[in-house]
Amino acid sequence: AQILVLHGPNLNLLGTREPAHYGATTLAEIDQALAGIAAEAGHTLSSLQSNAEHELVARVQQAAAEGVAWIIINPAAFTHTSVALRDALAAVAIPFIEVHLSNIHAREDFRHHSYFSELAAGVISGLGAYGYTLALLSAIETLKNN
Ligand code: DQA
Repeated sequence: AQILVLHGPNLNLLGTREPAHYGATTLAEIDQALAGIAAEAGHTLSSLQSNAEHELVARVQQAAAEGVAWIIINPAAFTHTSVALRDALAAVAIPFIEVHLSNIHAREDFRHHSYFSELAAGVISGLGAYGYTLALLSAIETLKNN
């Protein structure tokens, strides 16, 4: 099956961006590790990082046409602001897992609310880059049962 990983704004800076919150692993390292795990399980995984809301919305819409089976998304700052990206995920009705590197509930109040969580199959927050791995393993497990 096809699995899509989406990363929101500023996640291109991972590795150097506020490492106390986001760790030292780069986005390229995360995407490579995920692609390897997916391939080993017989799936294909593609990743997109964008700082632009409209690009993420367009990618979600395209995912429906491609028959993507699962989306793993870290909406980053759009978590707390983007009705448009939430609506795109609702529109395509592709199951998705929401991932945050940091524990958004342990940070500023404005990070406590996510527009995505009530639509997500699950939410992982605070486990660093490993959260993406856990999300992918869960998606792969679910695909076995289909
Ligand atoms: C984040 C948490 C968000 O609040 C923040 O805006 C990010 C990254 C995380 O992965 O911990 O950019 O989604």
